Amino acid sequence: MAVRPVGPDDADRVRRLLERSSPESIYRRFFTLFPSPPARVVRRLTDVDHADHEGLAVLDGDEIVALASWDRPRHAAAEAEIAVLVDDAWQHMGLGRALVRMLSGDAARHGIAVLNATVLSDNHPARQLAVRVGQPTSVVLDGPEAFYTFSLAS
Ligand SMILES: CC(C)(COP(=O)(O)OP(=O)(O)OC[C@H]1O[C@@H](n2cnc3c(N)ncnc32)[C@H](O)[C@@H]1OP(=O)(O)O)[C@@H](O)C(=O)NCCC(=O)NCCS
Repeated sequence: MAVRPVGPDDADRVRRLLERSSPESIYRRFFTLFPSPPARVVRRLTDVDHADHEGLAVLDGDEIVALASWDRPRHAAAEAEIAVLVDDAWQHMGLGRALVRMLSGDAARHGIAVLNATVLSDNHPARQLAVRVGQPTSVVLDGPEAFYTFSLAS
């Protein structure tokens, strides 16, 4: 297996990852369902600028089996949103945890001090992952969603 930053050349690999993913995984990652992966979603995941938008992919051979991203909505702000998707066939094998750890280190090197994550309240794997990778500084439950905040300051 290999881990590397994602890029525009990965559009087909990301599309195939989304096509292989179950509706449950898609909904948990994107908070919506789609009959096929919309081009704008694939573009958002692969058009990384390595400054305000980053993505790390785990590859098994030539296929992406996990993808985690951070985005800072305001240019050069010290705060970013993190999200992750692991191929259904590869879930619960430690990829999510390893990838989020690597991505957090990368975010810190880009000057990000605070990472936010929004997960569905009933998404137990993601909520477990959140407490496995670090100590959240806050967890706010708001109806169907849970908002996690992590401080990357050492
Ligand atoms: C949430 C997700 C990223 C976790 O990735 P993963 O590779 O399966 O997680 P890991 O194997 O690294 O496990 C990390 C921890 O999460 C928990 N976990 C993972 N899968 C679980 C499952 N099916 N049921 C219960 N807990 C689970 C475990 O506590 C695990 O720690 P442990 O191995 O010490 O028990 C993955 O399930 C996924 O992609 N889900 C769909 C998209 C999503 O929900 N994204 C998060 C919101 S952006």
